[in-house]
Amino acid sequence: MRILDAVRYSLERLEKAGVDDPLTDAEMLVFNAARAERLSAYIDNPEIGGGLFSKIKRLTARRGSGEPLQYIIGHVEFCGLTISVGKGVLIPRPETELLVEEALKTAKREALNVKRNDSGAKDGPSSDDAGLIDFSPFTPHPSLSVLDLCTGSGCIALALAKKLPGAKVFGTDISAKALRYARKNAAAHNICNVTFKKGDLFGPLNKGARFDLIVSNPPYIVTSDIDGLQREIRQWEPKNALDGGADGLDFMRAILSGAPARLKEGGIVILELGYGQADEVSEMARQHGFGNVLVIDDFAGVGRILKAEKAPGFSN
Ligand SMILES: C[S@@+](CC[C@H](N)C(=O)[O-])C[C@H]1O[C@@H](n2cnc3c(N)ncnc32)[C@H](O)[C@@H]1O
Repeated sequence: MRILDAVRYSLERLEKAGVDDPLTDAEMLVFNAARAERLSAYIDNPEIGGGLFSKIKRLTARRGSGEPLQYIIGHVEFCGLTISVGKGVLIPRPETELLVEEALKTAKREALNVKRNDSGAKDGPSSDDAGLIDFSPFTPHPSLSVLDLCTGSGCIALALAKKLPGAKVFGTDISAKALRYARKNAAAHNICNVTFKKGDLFGPLNKGARFDLIVSNPPYIVTSDIDGLQREIRQWEPKNALDGGADGLDFMRAILSGAPARLKEGGIVILELGYGQADEVSEMARQHGFGNVLVIDDFAGVGRILKAEKAPGFSN
């Protein structure tokens, strides 16, 4: 049997099972299992052994039964890092890369010490700048302290720690399983400027610890919407990574009310939002004393990222 026969086998099974993008998933399963590079597999179409084909059949059956591809292959790409994932941890999503992008722009602005003028207009790079800011090892970078609440696999904390080697990054999560992945990911990438702690939001932090930047992609799905989500999410991803309470905003409230006491003067909070939450969470941020509230749209035009600044003299 040749590798492309295995792709065809997997494709047919996944099509029958109603998987959304069966060709991509079949290729990922087969080429990952065979440790083959896609282009050379299509050019050389090498022979594969019976043992490998049996493994491919098992993997295909798992995908056909609804298990997410990323859990089966065990990893996902996020901001240029390979992040290990599996049952018990949320699979990082592409839209969360926007949050990292915005956090890096903010960090760069801090590094350049760009001042806001009285009208609130900003000098320097704007929030509309395209592309990730690249801090090369030779670029001066700020010694910021960053807190990533609800860190999960650690994807956000690790992407920031990697791009800001002078920063001290902390991540908290209530799930021991998720934190096992986060620590494994830090070790795999040899990222040492990150510390993960288990507990409820700000709970595990040292008394008096304050940060320049607080970021979070918290659970934000309305409880009653969870049953209507795609099978892959609803049946496989951890419920406590999704459930944002009756209106989806429980964590937004808790984070925005707790953040002022944990931010330094002028510190910034950056949150990922669910569909249709931008106006309500912006108002919530203002009520908790934040200023310069800004919402950034994702590629689909959905207000996805909220950024707000702790107003001077406001601590809780
Ligand atoms: C939407 S996931 C985000 C994971 C990761 N930051 C990402 O962007 O892929 C939310 C995370 O919040 C965690 N979580 C749920 N309740 C929490 C709480 N009370 N305190 C801290 N973390 C919590 C879950 O375990 C889950 O890892």
